[in-house]
Amino acid sequence: MNQQIIENIYQQILNEKNQGSLATYIPELANISPDKFGVAFLELNQPIIGVGDYQEKFSIQSIVKVLSLCLAYRHLQSDIWQRVNVEPSGTSFNSLVQLEADKGIPRNPFINAGAIVVCDILLSILDNPLEDFLAFIREISHNPQINYSSKVAQSEKSVGYRNFALCYYIKSFGNIKNDPIEVLDFYFHICSIEMTCQELAYAFSFLANDGITLHDGCQILTKSQTKRTNAIMQTCGFYDESGEFSFRVGLPGKSGVGGGIVAVMPNHYSIAVWSPCLNSKGNSYRGMKFLEEFTTQTKISVF
Ligand code: DON
Repeated sequence: MNQQIIENIYQQILNEKNQGSLATYIPELANISPDKFGVAFLELNQPIIGVGDYQEKFSIQSIVKVLSLCLAYRHLQSDIWQRVNVEPSGTSFNSLVQLEADKGIPRNPFINAGAIVVCDILLSILDNPLEDFLAFIREISHNPQINYSSKVAQSEKSVGYRNFALCYYIKSFGNIKNDPIEVLDFYFHICSIEMTCQELAYAFSFLANDGITLHDGCQILTKSQTKRTNAIMQTCGFYDESGEFSFRVGLPGKSGVGGGIVAVMPNHYSIAVWSPCLNSKGNSYRGMKFLEEFTTQTKISVF
């Protein structure tokens, strides 16, 4: 893959007007410069290619939901699907509406409701949830420099009324086993993890590599679990814009309200883009645009 293609698309998008707005509902995220823009591309077993602010850390937010799912899936195997479903929701990431009809089983692990249930599962499995989860992220990233931002976690907790509502509501159906306060504290912390595009592209590379890490050949997920995780990213990674992302980009991916997007092309590459201005669905405007141009110009996508 040519660095020039990535730089050209980056420049092209930089020259166009940015659109959307910051995720101001989390007060700390309102302080980020809206002009940040970085891309990191990792072709399996090739040196990483980076452009712009690709080495600057940002709040990964919902991107972490893929990694929390992986850790829970690893422990519970297919039993996990009794607690959370695998259907696209067609509703916004923080919606409450389907939970009543679905009797507290969230549609998928990437909407907030589903990610909160996955956090509850991890609280039951892990001895020291915050330490053990961070150790897992550092292990797959081959990088000890990854941390929570207690400032961002605290900021979200201070206004996270919808997530509190979701967690207590799910608990009323019996699908939260632990104390909701502890589940949410864990949820806000894992969302607050800060990583660069470079670190994210590397952390997700095992999902492009049949579940195996590049640095030490460790099997994080089985081949089948990896396929299924990618399938959920393809169908649910962008909430009620998952169809649009599939249509325009054609890769399994996951967004976060910090403005990051990670996507993988199985057996080929992982890619991370960061631009904090979000469209009305909570997905990075420039991130989607970059990936659309990237898969269009390189003609490398799953479809
Ligand atoms: O729970 C929240 O609202 C945030 N911690 C995460 C939401 C998010 O990143 C949605 N993604 N686009």
